[in-house]
Amino acid sequence: MNLPICRAVEPGFGLRIPTASSSTSWRVRNFATRSRFRPDLGGTPGPDRPRTNAFKRVSPGPAPIVRLGHVVLSVSDVSRTVGWWSEKFGVLVSDDIRLPDGTTAASFLRCDRGSVPTDHHSLIFATLPSGRVGFHHAAFEVIDFDDLVLGGEHLVERGRERVWGVGRHLLGSQVFDYWADPWGNKVEHWTDGDLLTADQAMQIQGMDAMTGVQWGPALPATFL
Ligand SMILES: [Fe+2]
Repeated sequence: MNLPICRAVEPGFGLRIPTASSSTSWRVRNFATRSRFRPDLGGTPGPDRPRTNAFKRVSPGPAPIVRLGHVVLSVSDVSRTVGWWSEKFGVLVSDDIRLPDGTTAASFLRCDRGSVPTDHHSLIFATLPSGRVGFHHAAFEVIDFDDLVLGGEHLVERGRERVWGVGRHLLGSQVFDYWADPWGNKVEHWTDGDLLTADQAMQIQGMDAMTGVQWGPALPATFL
């Protein structure tokens, strides 16, 4: 079943789909796209050295958000939920997290844009050890590492609680920084994640890959 896409008039704008209800009672209302707040100033590493005769100057303050990158929801049945999203939205599984008994504990899902590279994951469905079902975190892309660090300093100055970070994920490879919001939710700043085309096959992973980092602090016990 193909769902129509139309322009959103709500805050955030971008593109949206009409409401749809899943077999697991999630109500799906809005996919939005958004352009960057400021141009990428470029860097100098690597052979291309794209920034020449231009001085990099960044300013303290909250990190400008490029867009909502992904949302993580805890569910009671990952496989059934992924089946519904695959049928309705044609999502692809980038990484499937299996427990020793072979059941799926989490799935990292991406959009199927054919040969157009797209984020390693836009959605993650997971069954948490606590059994809790609901929203886990939302992740907002920032332009680069400078904005990730400056945004973190801004939040620290205002007494906000860092939950996990700064580090680099294994699955998706993003540089991440997680924060607690005043209402008990987690939100993430991230930058520099993997892009995949539809050709990339699903990878089967263990829990250690999902929770592991390439660098940075280990996953806090309270995170899941
Ligand atoms: Fe995340």
